[in-house]
Amino acid sequence: MSGGIMQPTPVSEMACPVDHSLLDPAVQDSPWDFYAELHEKCPVFPIPEMGAVMVTRYEDVRFVLTNPDIFSSSGRGGGGAKKGLQVDNAKRYQAILAERGWGHVETLQRTDPPIHTDYRRRLNRVFTPRRVRLMADHIDEISTELIDTVFERELGAASSGVGESEFVDDFAMPLPGIIIAEQLGLDRSDIRTFKRWADAMLAISMRPLTEEELLETVETELEAQHHLATEFELRRQHPTDDLISALVHSHGDDEEPLSMHELQNLMHQLVTGGFETTTNALNHGMWLLTRYPEVQERLRGDASLIPAFIEETLRFEGPVQGLARRTTRDVEVADVMVPADTMVLVRYGAANRDDSAFDNAGEFNIDRPDAHQHVAFGLGAHFCVGAALARQELVSGFTNWVDRTSNIELARPFEGPVHEPSLLLLPVKELPLRFTV
Ligand code: HEM
Repeated sequence: MSGGIMQPTPVSEMACPVDHSLLDPAVQDSPWDFYAELHEKCPVFPIPEMGAVMVTRYEDVRFVLTNPDIFSSSGRGGGGAKKGLQVDNAKRYQAILAERGWGHVETLQRTDPPIHTDYRRRLNRVFTPRRVRLMADHIDEISTELIDTVFERELGAASSGVGESEFVDDFAMPLPGIIIAEQLGLDRSDIRTFKRWADAMLAISMRPLTEEELLETVETELEAQHHLATEFELRRQHPTDDLISALVHSHGDDEEPLSMHELQNLMHQLVTGGFETTTNALNHGMWLLTRYPEVQERLRGDASLIPAFIEETLRFEGPVQGLARRTTRDVEVADVMVPADTMVLVRYGAANRDDSAFDNAGEFNIDRPDAHQHVAFGLGAHFCVGAALARQELVSGFTNWVDRTSNIELARPFEGPVHEPSLLLLPVKELPLRFTV
């Protein structure tokens, strides 16, 4: 998979006919057949509308992720890609942020080594395994409190032992939301405010916004930025043990402190990268438990199986289905010459369903010995900095739910799509549960 002497074909002239399209909301809701078709027929799949190609095989995804000099994270998308994205909207949004708050600068996830290496070193100091271990009890406490609230509401004093829960709102959203919100200096009762901020920060990369939505969204992000700016200044003077303090003081003796623009951008990445992703890992794990009652039973009997269940959930239905890179030169991938300056959609979710990497990849099997080889958290330089924290939240959440119930099932079957349409994520709309204690 290295450079060859073939002339690259422009993406607009590439072809690989398949029956589905990623732009179809039905495919975004359930992409698995589409991925299988691509694995077989078009491992490098052109999407001329976006000036992009999509890479789905496990080996090819690994190749892209571990060669950041060829597949850059900086200025995502490349020249051709910008046609298909909301460029005017994004420019306007940025101009408003720059005027009344802090315009986005490229840090961490949008940089390549060696610039990335410096940001990553600072973030690694903040997300040490020790720090995550210290958070474990607190995560357990919040997880228990959230379930207590559901039980009190549903079971009351005269308990029938059966209750219902809208899992997304009752648990999957608040657990990671409270964890990050507290780290950002918010009171946990402000979780709704935080959710509003996080939704606004994600909005522009998720879907086209109308004029009115754009103005409303940018106001919300400005509100978040000004709150954070005050908190950064406070922690600069009076350090505490939260994430903001750790970031403000993340420089070594011979390093410059992070600027306000950099701090704002890093917070943006932690919020957008750490909230909805963890929510949807919790949602998918719970939805899988309702589809596989025998797995529920096994976890109740043996809590040591929970980490294996979590890794298989992340492999099987990972919350981040895809992100993008941009080629810095012509490069051959799976016998296809991809031209320089092409957006490459890296499909983590498809790689995890590749039969050539995982036996019967389309089967959910918690006994699979190699589930942890999934790329749901990425790979290489940009491997998820919050992976240990996310895993801790998942372990705590599922341990508590299976411990405190004797059965969990769907309260009613889904009508229509399970997910919000998204090119990147698998956001579950709602998950109505019936549980028995
Ligand atoms: C189950 C939950 C999560 C999933 C599936 C997930 C997935 C990912 C993936 C696929 C990447 C690689 C991006 C790339 O290749 O460009 C990534 C990076 C990242 N994640 Fe996560 N993530 C999760 C939770 C979290 C949490 C809890 C945080 C922080 C609070 C977080 C913060 C980040 C950041 C800052 C990066 C960029 C790292 C870098 O560029 O060096 N994520 N995540």
